[in-house]
Amino acid sequence: MTDQSSAWQALGAHRKTLGNTHLRDLFAQDPGRFGKFSLEAGDLFLDYSKNLIVAGTLASLIELARASQLEERIGAMLAGERINTTEERAVLHVALRNRSNRPMAADGKDVMPAVNAVLARMRGFSEGVRSGTIRGSTGEIITDVVNIGIGGSDLGPLMVTEALEPYRHERLRVHFVSNIDGAHLGAKLKSLNARTTLFIIASKTFTTQETLTNAASARAWLVAALGNEGAVSEHFSAVSTNLSATKAFGIRDDNVFAFWDWVGGRYSLWSAIGLPIAIAAGMDRFEELLSGAHTMDRHFASAPLEHNMPVILGLLGIWYIDFWDRRTHAVLPYDQSLHRFPAYLQQLDMESNGKSVGRDGRSVEYQTGPVVWGEPGTNGQHAFYQQLHQGTHWTPADFILPLQSHYPMGRHHDMLIANCLAQTQALMQGKTADEVRTELIAQGYRGESLERLVPHKVFPGNRPSNTILLPKLTPASLGALIALYEHKVFVQGTIWGVNSFDQWGVELGKQLANKLMDDMAAGSVSSSHDASTRGLMLRAKARDRLA
Ligand code: F6P
Repeated sequence: MTDQSSAWQALGAHRKTLGNTHLRDLFAQDPGRFGKFSLEAGDLFLDYSKNLIVAGTLASLIELARASQLEERIGAMLAGERINTTEERAVLHVALRNRSNRPMAADGKDVMPAVNAVLARMRGFSEGVRSGTIRGSTGEIITDVVNIGIGGSDLGPLMVTEALEPYRHERLRVHFVSNIDGAHLGAKLKSLNARTTLFIIASKTFTTQETLTNAASARAWLVAALGNEGAVSEHFSAVSTNLSATKAFGIRDDNVFAFWDWVGGRYSLWSAIGLPIAIAAGMDRFEELLSGAHTMDRHFASAPLEHNMPVILGLLGIWYIDFWDRRTHAVLPYDQSLHRFPAYLQQLDMESNGKSVGRDGRSVEYQTGPVVWGEPGTNGQHAFYQQLHQGTHWTPADFILPLQSHYPMGRHHDMLIANCLAQTQALMQGKTADEVRTELIAQGYRGESLERLVPHKVFPGNRPSNTILLPKLTPASLGALIALYEHKVFVQGTIWGVNSFDQWGVELGKQLANKLMDDMAAGSVSSSHDASTRGLMLRAKARDRLA
């Protein structure tokens, strides 16, 4: 895609025609707006009527999608073509949740037998831990499972395990350690009993510095606590594509779960990387998660672009990023259990589409992936929503709302629903100066004191949002929600013409950190560093002298 293409130019012209048309007026003009701009896919309902669009906007956006050969690209992904061109890999995470079990091939080979075999092993292992047939080296039952991984080997299983807390096995606590900062592992180990703890070392490559360092320290802690090197084989398991490295670490083969290079790290929670989810919530629930995602996959693959939820969400994002110059996107789950969902989406979206070079190696001529951020409501309302409503930088937002709670308690959930919908309404309609005046007069304000206050209480409105409703946050609806965002990211990456499946941008920092580590190990600071890095390293070197 280029910004000179006719579809792109048409959208630019359309944006000018739309001008500052206010959403209030669009709703007043068209009583059928909600019906026109909403759709259902499986368990999910999307209301996108509170967006800065008219019917023509959508038609032009769909044209852009067609001009970008979106349908062909979806076909290529599902056919197992090597669409991750810089790493020469297929992109087949959909095969991991292919509950229809129809053959899906990577490099001409059906992957389903291998996928199903690992799922069967995950069932055996997770059920063993849950039932207590798999025990620690002293014969004691496992009470705590610690997943050591980072990025995609952490955020996905962590987010889902937290989200499915209502389904958690009551004996088992599942923990996640990711950071190289010793405070993460150190603080966690303080609360654990080595005899009843099982570690899962999760790393696609099994070379990641943080994970291997944390794994080695966890291992040393365990051996010291149990006084027995042999205990490692009973207390450590691993999930990886690098089976020689898991062996070298000393993890016994029947505790190792494989996955494949056609599964990207940030798309891997559906693979054995989901083992902590299966242990916490049970394998049946894990399979329901897969089924929910599979339903969304089928919708994505077969619904016409005009009624395709991930396509609509992706196109709306493009509309704001490229034609309204919006650089950020807020994700606001009205569900405390989804408190790690924005963090998970940050990796999914920003690692996938935070690119400035197209698949052809040329610089792109437009903005690509946004900064994704968010917090659960209603907490965010009392923190950053001020800026959402009255700040100079407006941000398109997704509100995510389960209609039923796992914790029915008095009027809590009614209040949660009312707050969520009120926020989208407030963003959309705003409050005019006349409305503010009327309110203030009713409160007794007059004259100068009234007029002084008016501008501060005006809300411009016309700030767009999507609302995604789920009946309840179940494994199936969560699976569909995650797959929805995965495909949204794919749609956007396709239109921007970037490779959404590599992440070369994480490499430079890793390389330079290794060089600085060499300096630290040698106790010297190389003179080849820039003045700032050298100055900071010298201060770090002198840290022993700090109080
Ligand atoms: O550094 C980024 C990254 O490669 C992510 O893409 C990945 O999810 C994470 O590191 C962890 O990688 P691994 O699973 O290989 O340890």
